[in-house]
Amino acid sequence: MTPALGRTYGPYLVTSALGRGGMGETYVGERTGPGGFTQRVCLKRLRADAGDASWVRMFQTEARLVAMLAHPNVVSLVDFGAEKDEWWMALALVEGVDLRAMLTSAQHAGERLPIELVVLVAIEIAKGLAHAHSRRLPDGAPAHIVHRDLSPGNVMVSTDGAVLLTDFGIAKVAHGERTRTGVIKGKADYMSPEHASGEVLDGRADLFSLGVVLFELLTGTRPFLGATDIAKTLSAIRGKRARIEQLAPETPGALVAIVDRLLEPTRERRYDDARALLDDLGRFHVRPSLVFALGERAMRAMQERGTPEPERTRTDVPTTRPR
Ligand SMILES: Nc1ncnc2c1ncn2[C@@H]1O[C@H](COP(=O)(O)OP(=O)(O)O)[C@@H](O)[C@H]1O
Ligand SMILES: [Mg+2]
Repeated sequence: MTPALGRTYGPYLVTSALGRGGMGETYVGERTGPGGFTQRVCLKRLRADAGDASWVRMFQTEARLVAMLAHPNVVSLVDFGAEKDEWWMALALVEGVDLRAMLTSAQHAGERLPIELVVLVAIEIAKGLAHAHSRRLPDGAPAHIVHRDLSPGNVMVSTDGAVLLTDFGIAKVAHGERTRTGVIKGKADYMSPEHASGEVLDGRADLFSLGVVLFELLTGTRPFLGATDIAKTLSAIRGKRARIEQLAPETPGALVAIVDRLLEPTRERRYDDARALLDDLGRFHVRPSLVFALGERAMRAMQERGTPEPERTRTDVPTTRPR
């Protein structure tokens, strides 16, 4: 595969790089039309060093799955296609940063995300998960969508303070289908014990990963440490981990209890679903205006990273692009 910058995928001209993860590369893509119409999207394609045909199948599954979702807390699919044998998808562009960049920004400033903002982020992620987990197939049967890869790099925060789940790259519609043994995908740091054990997953696996993300936001470090993925996974299975009370003693006991419950190794001891979690988070009475504070932090993190600019006026649009 050739570098994406300056190329077109479907109607989208790739103008700048956004991010890179385990499987994909993301860019800003621009589509122009009559009457000065411009639409910017997040253009995602498989990494240039993409693996085998199974990656392509997963990419196709991702697009099919994201197309089933429509919610303010989930990045939506705009378009999907292939240029020869290069598959791409266009996602609604989030003007902001992922939570990983927010964590890095806070670390550089020698601080942590204020507790009330962590609660806000938790609520918004839980709403997105509740939507995904409760989707139905066209015939009305539950789709049992599980994200399976919830991590800071897969949560976007916009400069408006919106929080959106992205990267359903290894998500699955359970639909009775079993994970093939030996094929465990996901990040060990955030992976639930049942995922690591190759069991059939339900929404509670995502709740565990959310627990790890919240732990990291509160303490600046992850709960399950180890030199290798296997060591981390074993710690998760055994429930052997650091405590929030020690790392961030200022955290309210009620919030510690919520994260502790999310991190229960046995899924039956977690919340039954994201809704039950939301009921508990509701006790914190998060002020609606906190979204602006979250947005300002996303803006700061974005400026620290340097790219890309959140707002670009029409006059900045290059005039040399093909029409
Ligand atoms: N809709 C979006 N708008 C802006 N940036 C995005 C969007 N979706 C993903 N990103 C950025 O691109 C990075 C990689 O995308 P992701 O879907 O996570 O790919 P991968 O499967 O390779 O992890 C993310 O970590 C995030 O920083
Ligand atoms: Mg990702």
